[in-house]
Order: sequence, then structure tokens, then C-alpha cells
Amino acid sequence: MSTYAPQNPHLPFGDQRTAPWYGKSIVSVNQFSREDLTYIFAVAHEMREMVVRIGTFDLLKGKILANLFYEPSTRTSSSFTAAMERLGGSVIPINEVKYSSVSKGESLPDTIRSLECYADVVVLRHPQKGASALAARYARKPIINAGDGAGEHPTQALLDLFTIREELRQVDGLTVTMLGDLRYGRTVHSLARLLSLYNVKINYVSPEVVAMPREIIAELEAKGIPQAEYTALEACLPETDVLYVTRIQKERFENPEEYEQVKGAYVITPETLKAAKERMIVMHPLPRVGEISMDVDDDPRAAYFRQMEYGLYVRMALLAMVLGKA
Ligand code: NCD
Repeated sequence: MSTYAPQNPHLPFGDQRTAPWYGKSIVSVNQFSREDLTYIFAVAHEMREMVVRIGTFDLLKGKILANLFYEPSTRTSSSFTAAMERLGGSVIPINEVKYSSVSKGESLPDTIRSLECYADVVVLRHPQKGASALAARYARKPIINAGDGAGEHPTQALLDLFTIREELRQVDGLTVTMLGDLRYGRTVHSLARLLSLYNVKINYVSPEVVAMPREIIAELEAKGIPQAEYTALEACLPETDVLYVTRIQKERFENPEEYEQVKGAYVITPETLKAAKERMIVMHPLPRVGEISMDVDDDPRAAYFRQMEYGLYVRMALLAMVLGKA
């Protein structure tokens, strides 16, 4: 459960104050237990059914979300907007912080304290690791981490896990192979931690300079998760149930030469997948910049577009939960 409860909660009248996630920030996947995940996925399931049946409904009518993005985003920001609007709420979009007071030098805590005067929940993407935890310390309203630099991306990991469950029906017993930029890729940091609540095996395939951070491997080792590292995919592809491909995070390299060395390190093609199981899935948080060739898209194992849709339902569930309506 979150340790980031608001310090001075001004609970709006009429909310369910007893709902366990009411008013809580979502900063790291380490906040979640396996029971929490079962609950979140059950709510996400209901959201899906409601969207399919009636499209939009008024669970969060009158609620306002501030979408504060200090880094580019297509899917995360628009899916939070869609999630809020499908639940009858509305959104203050702040995508171009250069047009907001941030460009005048306003600190993150001050920006957050301003936005929470107008909004009931703040979704924050920021280039600095730890930014969401910092924001949550100052905020009275829930902060949802939509990516803090090379730190974490907890809502992405939740939707990734929901995707695995929906597509493969169970998580226990699976072998998950993460491929690409495991050093700077925040989605794999969160996903590896979340998967450690299950009985899984994890393979990491990356060039050495962008290997999975040692502290995450140690964290998972302490939980008894079998892990193996490779620089080539061939050795572990045949046993893989979930191949999670990531983009090399060009914007996070301090040394451009290092980026040049590793860009284009892996490209998944229909040929690659000949060595993969017939019942497995290929995932990617997107955007892709050449790691999966477009002729893989028609393969039924390509799950990355379906993954985006699952994200809508998971984010609807999370918003309803932190606003006390689920
Ligand atoms: C990812 C991110 O921002 O970390 N995108 C996303 O949210 N779906 C992955 C990436 O940028 O490579």
C-alpha cells in the first residue's frame, strides 16, 4: 500500500473515504501486492465491459485531472485523457511546459501545489528520476507517476501485466524476455519489479552498456526470481512466452557515441519469430523506432497494438480507485 498518502487531505464531500486507494499516489510498482493487482485487474475488466457496452459513463463526473507532461508522450497522455473523459470527468492538459510557468523557473512542488487547487488528481511525467515521489510529498491530491526519467513507469507496467493476463491467461510459470535498452528503459524497470510478485523466469537481452541495472537484478534475486542475461536473443527465444521489446532511449545517453554503438542492435522480423513458440506474445510499450519491423504486425503473436487498448481500461481503473469510486 502507498506510503504517499496526502499529508493534509481535503476530502471532497460525497467520496467513499473508506476505499483503500482513495487519495493515494501511485509512484512505484513496489506499492502493489499481488492482491492489489487482482483487484486492479478486476476493475479494469469491468471498465472494459462498460466501454464496450456503453462507451462513456459518469463515474467521475465533475472530477478534474491535470495531465502535466515535461517529456513527450502520445499514448500515456492521450490514454489518461480518454480514461478520464470516458468516466465523465475532464482534463487540464499541460503538455508544453515551455508555455507554462515552469519556463519562468517555477519549482515542481510549486507547480504541483498550484495544479491541485484546480484538479483532483495529477498525472506527472518528468525527466528526473524521483520527481513523482518528490511531487507526492508536497501534494494533497494523488499524483500518478507517468514516467520519472529512467526511474519507473508504474501504470505502463500495470497495463503490461494486464495484457499478459488477458492474452496468455496466467502469469505464473511464464518466461519473460526483455530486449533492448534495459538500463534507461523505465518500463522494464517497473515490469521486472511487478513480475517478481509471480512465479516467473526473466531473461534480459541487451548490449552490455545498456544492461538491466544491478540493483534491480539484486532486488529480484532476493525474491528468488530466476534471471539470466544475454547479449543475443537466439539462446533464449525458443523458451520465451513474452518477448518484451524496448526502444533504445536515445534522449538519455550522456555519451552520443555510446548510443551510436547500440542503436539498431536488435530488429525483430518475421524470420526472427520462426524460432519462437507458436503460443507466445511480442510486446512493446511503443513508440518503436525500428526494433520490430512492420511486417511482424500481422503476426497474431504481435500484441503491441492490443496492449495500448488494455492501457485505457487499466488507467480508467486507477483513476476511479484513487478518486474513491472503485
Ligand atoms: C515509454 C516511455 O515513455 O517510457 N512510452 C510509453 O509510455 N508507452 C517507452 C519509450 O519511450 O520508449
